[in-house]
Amino acid sequence: MRIVVTGGAGFIGSVLTPRLLAQGHRVHVVDNLMYGAQPILPFFFQPGFSFAEVDVRDRAALARELAGADVVIHLAALTGYPLCKKLPREAVEVNLGGATNVIELAPADARLVYASTGSNYGEVIGVCTEDTPLNPLSLYGETKTQAEQLFVARDNTVSLRFATAFGIGPRLRLDLMINDFTYQALHNRFLVIYEKHFRRTFLHVQDIARAIVHVVEHPDRLQHKVYNVGHDTLNYTKAEIVELLRRRLDFLVHFAEIGTDEDKRDYEVSYARIRATGFEPEVDIDRGLDEVIRALRLMRIRNPYSNV
Ligand SMILES: NC(=O)c1ccc[n+]([C@@H]2O[C@H](COP(=O)([O-])OP(=O)(O)OC[C@H]3O[C@@H](n4cnc5c(N)ncnc54)[C@H](O)[C@@H]3O)[C@@H](O)[C@H]2O)c1
Repeated sequence: MRIVVTGGAGFIGSVLTPRLLAQGHRVHVVDNLMYGAQPILPFFFQPGFSFAEVDVRDRAALARELAGADVVIHLAALTGYPLCKKLPREAVEVNLGGATNVIELAPADARLVYASTGSNYGEVIGVCTEDTPLNPLSLYGETKTQAEQLFVARDNTVSLRFATAFGIGPRLRLDLMINDFTYQALHNRFLVIYEKHFRRTFLHVQDIARAIVHVVEHPDRLQHKVYNVGHDTLNYTKAEIVELLRRRLDFLVHFAEIGTDEDKRDYEVSYARIRATGFEPEVDIDRGLDEVIRALRLMRIRNPYSNV
C-alpha cells in the first residue's frame, strides 16, 4: 500500500516508518521538519521510502503529496500543552487546520488514521471508555479533540487515543514524563514532583507504532471509529514511577505542589476495545524503563526540560 505519514519525522513517526517499510508498504513522509531531518535520514536508503518537506497548512502542496494514498496516517501536530500554550495561533492552524486539510484533500477512498490522545478526557472520575464525554482542559487537548471530531465524521477513518508515550526514538523527546524523570534522576540526581498521585497510562513508542500498523493491516477487525490505545497494566501514578526509578537509580526526590498539569491527566482508561481487536502492547514498564535508563545515561544534552 502507499501510505502517507504526516509528521513522520517526529518521535512516533520515525519509529513507525521503518515498521511500515518492513511490512512491504511504500511510505511517503510529509513533514515541515520542525525538529530537523536527522530522525528520517536512515530511511532514504530504502526503495519504498520517499519524503516531502511540506507544511500541512499548505493546501496546494499537501494535495499533491496525498494524491494516490491508500492510507493516510495523520501525526503532524504541535504536540503537548506547553508548546501549544507558547504558540497558540500555530497550534490552532496546525492541529485543527492541518487536520481539516488532510480530511478534505485525502483521496475519497483512502483510509485515514488519526493520532488522538488521552489528554482529550481531561479530569475524569472513574474509568474512561471511548464513550466517556471529552473534556479537554488545555489548548492542546481542545485542538486535538476538535480535530478528532472532524475525523470521526468521515467514513473509513479511525482515531487512536494514545496513552502517554515514553521510550527512545530517533527524535528524542525529553518532555515526556517518564523520559524527563529518568533524565533528571540520572543527570541532576534530583527530582521535584508535583501532583504525585496523578495516575495515567504510559505506552512505549514501539507499541504506539505497533498499534498503528495493527489498525492499518486489520481494518476488518475494526468495529468502531475510536480506540483507546494502551494497557491496563501500564497505569501508574507519578509516585509509583518515581519508586520504580529509585529501585534502579540513586537520586533525591522532593514532593511539592509547585506546579500543575494543565491537562489534568489523572485518569484510568479502559483498553478493552482495542484488546478485542487483537492488540496487546509488548513493552512492559520494566523493559521500557531499563531501555530509557541505558540510553539516557549516554546523553550529553544541556538545558533539558524540567519536570514537565
Ligand atoms: N507522544 C505522545 O505521548 C502522544 C500521545 C498521544 C498522541 N500523540 C499524537 O501523536 C502525534 C505525533 O506525536 P509525536 O510524539 O511524534 O510528536 P512530535 O512533535 O515528535 O512529531 C510531530 C511531527 O509533526 C511535524 N509537524 C509539526 N507541525 C507541522 C506542520 N505544520 N506541517 C508538517 N509537519 C508538521 C513535526 O516536524 C514533527 O516531525 C501528534 O499528533 C500527537 O498529538 C502523541
